[in-house]
Amino acid sequence: MSSRKTLEKLRSAIRHHDHRYYVLDDPEVSDAQYDALMRELQALEQANPQWITSDSPTQRVAGTPREGFTKFQHEVPMLSLGNVFSKEEFLEFDDRMRRLLDTAEPLEYFAELKFDGLSISLVYENGILTHAATRGDGTLGEEITANIRTIRSVPLVLNTDKPPEKIEIRGEALLPIKDFESLNRVQSERGEKLFANPRNAAAGSLRQLDAAITASRPLRVFCYGVGGIQFESKRTPWDRLSTMREDFKAWGLPIQSSCVIGKGPEAVLSFYDEIQSRREDLPFEIDGIVVKLNSIRALEQAGFVSRSPRGMIAFKYPARQETTEIEDIVVQVGRTGTLTPVAHLKPVQVGGVWVRRATLHNQDEIDRKDVRIGDRVTIQRAGDVIPEVVQVITSVRTGKERRFQIPDRCPECNSAVERAEGESAVRCPNRNCLAQVKERLRHFVSKDALNMDGLGEKIIEQLVDEKLVQIPADLFALTEEALLKLEGFAEKSASQSIAAIQSARTPELARLFFALGIRHVGERTSKTLSKHFRDIAPLLTKSAESLQTELEALPDVGPEVAQSVVSYFSDSECREALKKLLKFVVPSAPTRTAKHPDFDGKSFVITGTLHSMGRSEATTRIEALGGFVRSSISKNTDALIAGEEAGSKLKKAQDLGVQIYDEKAFGALLARAEKGK
Ligand code: IVH
Repeated sequence: MSSRKTLEKLRSAIRHHDHRYYVLDDPEVSDAQYDALMRELQALEQANPQWITSDSPTQRVAGTPREGFTKFQHEVPMLSLGNVFSKEEFLEFDDRMRRLLDTAEPLEYFAELKFDGLSISLVYENGILTHAATRGDGTLGEEITANIRTIRSVPLVLNTDKPPEKIEIRGEALLPIKDFESLNRVQSERGEKLFANPRNAAAGSLRQLDAAITASRPLRVFCYGVGGIQFESKRTPWDRLSTMREDFKAWGLPIQSSCVIGKGPEAVLSFYDEIQSRREDLPFEIDGIVVKLNSIRALEQAGFVSRSPRGMIAFKYPARQETTEIEDIVVQVGRTGTLTPVAHLKPVQVGGVWVRRATLHNQDEIDRKDVRIGDRVTIQRAGDVIPEVVQVITSVRTGKERRFQIPDRCPECNSAVERAEGESAVRCPNRNCLAQVKERLRHFVSKDALNMDGLGEKIIEQLVDEKLVQIPADLFALTEEALLKLEGFAEKSASQSIAAIQSARTPELARLFFALGIRHVGERTSKTLSKHFRDIAPLLTKSAESLQTELEALPDVGPEVAQSVVSYFSDSECREALKKLLKFVVPSAPTRTAKHPDFDGKSFVITGTLHSMGRSEATTRIEALGGFVRSSISKNTDALIAGEEAGSKLKKAQDLGVQIYDEKAFGALLARAEKGK
């Protein structure tokens, strides 16, 4: 096959795998296999730079930061929506629609989530992404093409043979709540400005002159509409929004799966309830659902009020902001020693949940917002994370409010706190500070770490206070008898706790990395570490320099994170604690494509030209199944894969009686093994 053809094949394979991974969340190949394809493409492009085009998967992040944003004129204005806040108001909307469309029949609605992010417009010309822009004032936005290109779920090329000549896809960009939280944690430690909510964080991440910064933030995009033609039945190829959405899906555009199509308002009402009950569990913020007439003709007939289509409505959920009073400010010492000021609040319900505490992050934030004890404040909740104080309502101050200053000694162990140059966070330097010991253990047993059900805060507290447990390894040595001596334990609860501990002895490796509580190592980084290292003990034997270099080469691991991991693995106390832990715990490495008896432990040699895949791809796929690839034939070779124009190796294999596969047979063997048959 010509290199040109190989190049096209590689690009389309990578596009396919990007879509499986980033849009469908259902990868078909391992990371190593994907990387091999990407490397092969990069090599081919390097050798033939004249073939590099902007739609190539290698070209997602452009080189140099820009000077400023260019304005972008939307060909079709980006509109807004009217709101309803209750079932009654929604039923009025439904009535209004039937009067307007002059029908007594139930109307067909299409409803989906109302994403609380940043609206964006994606322009595809002949199927190729040519522009992306923010909403701006609806008419004039900002060009953010370079930034959007870094979002891997957004296709650079639409997956269709007959793309529209030009189409403006409308959608929403968002930052998942967890990623917003970890971004803010990093910002806080660095003494940089915190983002008020995931939406601002998404906006801040997208509107970056340096697209590399955008690339480092895990933004997601959901597409929900098109500019203009969705309201013009003569020009649109679709008769319904729901069919448009099916095409979006087929074209590889990211859409969110929750939606409903129903005749009459009932289906919409139950969708509204169902989503509300799941709102807490969604990984991103929504502020309601959007209900739309499904028929394009009906939408067109309904027309517009000012800048909103009349046939669509945002059906909102109650806001998750409330006001309450700060009764006290208390300092909490975290597992890495960071002192965090926490506001103790007069309890208040926010979006159906009682809230008693809110984080104030650090002293700089307290000063910036001028928060005082006794203040009336607005607080906000996102997902099931810790609520935060948004702002003070200064107009109702009485003069009795008291300022707060973070102490210069640790409230738990009285050590003098430290504040690193350029950071806002102050830290208790005493690693044996009981507050830190308890927090580290709490983190270790928590749901996303080793998930030891039934080992609550109170129990950890007692275990540490009674000097039964200091490091995680001590948990595994606990006995029922020891627990029974503690307050509140009966036979049953003691045996349950021991069972919970013992059943955590074979955790997934990523969970173990996370559980260690290494600074800056969250769930995402833990997964990266687990995929790369596939075991933990070997990290104890690497030199600091080589570990640092190896870590920095990993995706999403910057120098700061790498440094933190290195200092964990070079610290004698951490090393000892980990070694003790590994006497009890055997982590399981992430699953590769399962090993297969036709490949496992077998030695392969490849010769000649393979047309359906490159050699490096063949190699990674063989390795993923447990085989290995050698360059020369011997009597120990199990099989020869003979591509086109195989020469002397083929002859030698025949002489030695080595099993020989041609490309087709090899492809079939691989496919069968990868399916696990
Ligand atoms: S359709 C006429 N569907 O809500 C505009 N909008 O106030 C077309 N939004 O800025 C709106 N999720 O960015 C639509 N599933 C969804 C949406 C959605 C979020 C945003 C949109 C717009 C705002 C409207």
